[in-house]
Amino acid sequence: MHLLSTLAAAILAPVGVLAAPAGNAASVPQFRPLYARENLCNLKSPPQLCTPNASITVEETALRAYKFYRAFVVDGDPRTMFSLIDNVYQQHTPGYASGPQAIWSLFCNGRQIGTEQSTSWCFDASTNMSYAQYSTVDRWRWVGGCVHEHWDQGEKIPKDKCYKLPANATA
Ligand SMILES: *[C@@H]1O[C@H](CO)[C@@H](O)[C@H](O)[C@H]1NC(C)=O
Ligand SMILES: *[C@@H]1O[C@H](CO)[C@@H](O)[C@H](O)[C@H]1NC(C)=O
Repeated sequence: MHLLSTLAAAILAPVGVLAAPAGNAASVPQFRPLYARENLCNLKSPPQLCTPNASITVEETALRAYKFYRAFVVDGDPRTMFSLIDNVYQQHTPGYASGPQAIWSLFCNGRQIGTEQSTSWCFDASTNMSYAQYSTVDRWRWVGGCVHEHWDQGEKIPKDKCYKLPANATA
């Protein structure tokens, strides 16, 4: 019994310990593990891509941008990450071709880049750009609710423009 409850506490601890938000996660009051880490490098291509939908609202796009950041940076979930990238994805990183296929081998293994405490994200509704800050800053343009374009040279998070998700958005 004691062993079991100790084990249970050890398993549950990270969720509670990580409950305090940091950085831009202030817009997300509760940390919850959204996605399980997954290695999909046995697949030659992303299992699912994003189909643009012109009816997707700014609110929905902001939530998707948060989920994309979580899947990519915090959780290491390539399935969810690529399900939010469209099939043309314009790449502006020198040396990389456009299209999701060109980056699949970089992310298929579900590598976790950082914690929610040590990284941050932002969605700027005035430009439909989202950002993730870890050792660098990535910027993505969202079109029809999908990641459509990417930059990572000298980017900065527009801290005063970050969208505030509703408190229960990630429940
Ligand atoms: C497009 O988005 C709208 C708004 O979220 C949704 O109601 C509709 O079902 C979506 N259409 C498709 C084909 O997914
Ligand atoms: C951002 O996307 C929304 C649809 O999600 C669109 O209505 C709006 O015009 C876009 N804004 C800009 C600046 O592109």
